[in-house]
Parts: sequence; structure tokens; C-alpha cells
Amino acid sequence: MFYIFILVSSNWWQYPYPYDIFAIAASQEKLQKENFIDSYTESTEQSYGHIRLRNCLDPKIGKLGKKVRYGCSKRCHKFRRLDGLCNDYENPASGSLYYRFGRNVPLNATVRDEKNLYNPNPRDISRTLMKREKFIPVTIVNILVAGWVQFMTHDWFDSGKNDRCRHLKVPIRDDDPDFCKTMDIPMTRRDSCRNSKDYDTYQNTVTHWWDASQLYGINKQINRRIRTRKDGKLKLTSKDRLPIDPSTGLPITGNALNWWVGLGIFHVIWTREHNYVCDMLKERNPTWNDKMLYNTARLIIAAVIGKIHTLEWTTAILHNDVAKLGLKSNWYGITPIEIARGNASLAAWLIKRFPQLSSGLPGSIVNRYNMKDTVFEKAESVFEENSMEDLLYTFGNDYPGAMTLHNYPNFLRNLDLPASSPHGKGKIDMATIDILRDRERGIPRYNAFRRLFHLTPITKFEDLTTNPTHAEELRHMYNNDVEKIDF
Ligand code: HEM
Repeated sequence: MFYIFILVSSNWWQYPYPYDIFAIAASQEKLQKENFIDSYTESTEQSYGHIRLRNCLDPKIGKLGKKVRYGCSKRCHKFRRLDGLCNDYENPASGSLYYRFGRNVPLNATVRDEKNLYNPNPRDISRTLMKREKFIPVTIVNILVAGWVQFMTHDWFDSGKNDRCRHLKVPIRDDDPDFCKTMDIPMTRRDSCRNSKDYDTYQNTVTHWWDASQLYGINKQINRRIRTRKDGKLKLTSKDRLPIDPSTGLPITGNALNWWVGLGIFHVIWTREHNYVCDMLKERNPTWNDKMLYNTARLIIAAVIGKIHTLEWTTAILHNDVAKLGLKSNWYGITPIEIARGNASLAAWLIKRFPQLSSGLPGSIVNRYNMKDTVFEKAESVFEENSMEDLLYTFGNDYPGAMTLHNYPNFLRNLDLPASSPHGKGKIDMATIDILRDRERGIPRYNAFRRLFHLTPITKFEDLTTNPTHAEELRHMYNNDVEKIDF
């Protein structure tokens, strides 16, 4: 019966309980077999087998052909390394800094379509389909989810500093109020180890592991700046906030990329939590030195973050019983008692750590700020002017925007990047970039992706939306061709 489900499992949510569980399990098996694709091919290994490339930063390719020595010592059995090496003894480079991103569709489907890179024009899509007219909230979650997921993605992946010498040039219409002639977007940085026979490959410039690298950094230079070197602790100011780097106005933490208040809240909370765990460990283990306390606290913090994301965040977003069961069994195994143990909410955890939250402070402080005044170096004044309790209360009570047409935050569609940004100073439209990066990096368009992901393809625009105006707008933008719709 399981194999019948493998054949028909793609739309698992359409089955009644408990068949939906079998269907999702079969779907997972199929995805694991066919959609976890290694971007290191035989050709990669053949051509680099005996050469150590001068500029190749990839820990796997750079060392192929040599006796592989990653320096995995006994110490690594216990603690995480900053570069993410040695977590997997079968493949010590796996998931480490600069290890290639895999793909989740076959490699031959990831070729950039140069001819249609600007078709339809991504800035037109931003202006006509994505521009926010009136804020449309999503009411099943609060705005903490946005800060949290960005906090997570900064742990898992980063395509790194864009290439300042190669640009994508998006044609701009004469009536565009914000840009002139072309919008020049620096291309994604090249994979420093890609060979000419490889498909389009990209490197991760942070560790792939769920190791809280956004807090602890990915190299010694960053790590040295954030640690006090006393009792395992991380640096906080006398006001229990992150110290600020005067040269950028940004906080000193593992990764301050694309900083704003929602992201900052989690960096502060988890830095405080790290220090709290250090105190607890020291009390129970008075002989432990700074290194031992720091490394053990890091293990605990990374695990608790993973647990909250699996059991609290994802179950709030994927709000259905099968997804909840699956996520809980990922953590606790499949016994009912264990599953029942995973029902504490993130809100309850926050209230326990910040009892003031339950007192019901009036009003929303976010209303006093324009979003553009809460990003990058400006975020610190929001922390200075408001207590952490007020910020959490506000973020816990406000809705984020729904992911739907005509609801992209307008400040992000006309965003001024500061000089400190690794993406380079200048004005950008994130909605245009969102569309263009997928095309640049060879992500198949929506319907092709559905097929490759074993989902039924759509046949008409009305399959995407029940709103006839939206269907018509999409049809017009994509020239009546559902195959052109972006991912
Ligand atoms: C004020 C808030 C934010 C700002 C100013 C911001 C800014 C940026 C910028 C400038 C980029 C690089 C664009 C490029 O490719 O050239 C970027 C990438 C990205 N952002 Fe954000 N962002 C914000 C919030 C978020 C949130 C809430 C998420 C949640 C998932 C997020 C996820 C991402 C991801 C996944 C990338 C692509 C990373 C990569 O490919 O390396 N961002 N963001």
C-alpha cells in the first residue's frame, strides 16, 4: 500500500486522516530519493582531483587528491568548530563554510535561461504585482516570526558579498519614479572552485549546520570580538544590549547582516540566554574554565534554537495536524507521550523569561516609527528609546504582512543600502531582486518546479488564485503563459 501512496502522494493534504500521514511519508521518501541533489559531480572530482586551486575556498574540492586532513581532533567529538568542519566523520567537510549548496531539482534543470532573464521585466512585476497599496496582515502569527526566520536563515545560508564587477542590468521604464535607465544589480559571487563542466554552483559563506553561527561567527576574527574570555560569556553592555561597532553603527555579533529591530531582538535575547546558561553551568561545574563553559553553552543554545524552530515556529506557520505530528516526531520520535511533551508555545517561553510581558502594556510602539528608520545602523536608537519588554510586547501583538500580491513592503522596494552593507552602498528594490536572483541562479520557474517536485502542474491562472482581478493581472504580466510564472 505504501507504494501506491508513493505513486499518488504529491497532494497529501487532500487525503483524510490517517491516509494523509502515509501520503506525506511516501512523499518525503520520494523527495529524499529524487530531490536531494549533490552539486559535486564526477566531473568536479575528475578535474580537481589532483590540483589544489589557488583561490578555491571549498574545503572539499580544495583538498581533493591530497590526503584529506581536516584536523578533526578528539576535541571535535565534543564541541562545534567555527568553520563547521568535522561534524560528520564520514564526510568531514560536509556542511562547512564554503561547502557548495545542493539543489532540490535535477542539475540539468538549473541552467540559467539567459534569453529570458528580464522577461517579464522584474521591475515591472515589482511595480504592478507586488507594490503594496494597503497593508494586508496575516493574522495567524505575530511579527516576531519575521525577525525569527531571518535570524534562522542567517545561521543556515548566505550567498556572500555580491560581485562588484559583474552586474545584471534591469531595463527601467521612462515613467519609473525611483530608478533611471537601468537598475544595476551586482551578480551573485562566483563559486571560487567551479569548473567549466559543472552546472551553476554556489557556495555557502556561512556554515550549513544549525549551529547558531549567526551568534558565534564563522571565524576566529569575529568570534574574538564577541567573547569576553571570562566564564564563557559573550559581550553585552551595562544595559544588557549588544556593543556597537563605532565604524558601522552596527552591533558586534556573529552576523549583523541586513540588521533591523526584529532581527536584533533575537540576537539580544540569545546572547543574554548564552550568558545565563554560562552562569548555570558554572554554578554546577565550578572548575570549568572559560573555554569549557563557552563551548558547552554554545551546544545548548544551538540545540534549544533548533528545538524552538522545529516545535514552535514551524508548527505555527504550517498550521495543520499532520505537519505538527511530523515535526514533533522529528524531535521526540513517534511515541504519543513524547509527542504530547512538545506543546509548549514560544510565547509561553518568552513570558517565562520576561514575566513583564504578561502585564499587558498598552499600545503599539511600532506605530511611532517608520520601518525605514528601524533598519541597519538606525536600529540601535529604537533599542535605546524602548525597553526590550516593550519591543517584545509590540512585536508579539502586531501582525506581519501576508505573502500575497500587492503587499510587498514599499520601503524594501526602494531601499537605501548603507556603505557598511556587504551588498554595496546604493538604492535597490528587493522585490525586483527577489524575482531576479531566482532567475540568475537557475531556479526553474513555478510550473516547471512543481513538476520536478512531483506536484500537479497548474493549467490556468485561476488555479493560483480565487481573486479574478489577480488572475487577470497575472495573465497580463505573463502574456497568458502559465509556464512563465516566476517561482
Ligand atoms: C528590514 C528587513 C530586511 C532587510 C533590510 C533585508 C535586506 C536584504 C538584502 C539587502 C539582501 C541581499 C539582496 C541581494 O541578493 O542582493 C537580502 C537577502 C535575503 N534576505 Fe533579507 N532583508 C530583511 C528581512 C528579511 C527577512 C525577514 C527574511 C526572512 C526570511 C529575509 C531573508 C533573506 C534571504 C533568504 C536572502 C537571500 C540570502 C542569499 O541568497 O544570500 N530577509 N536581504
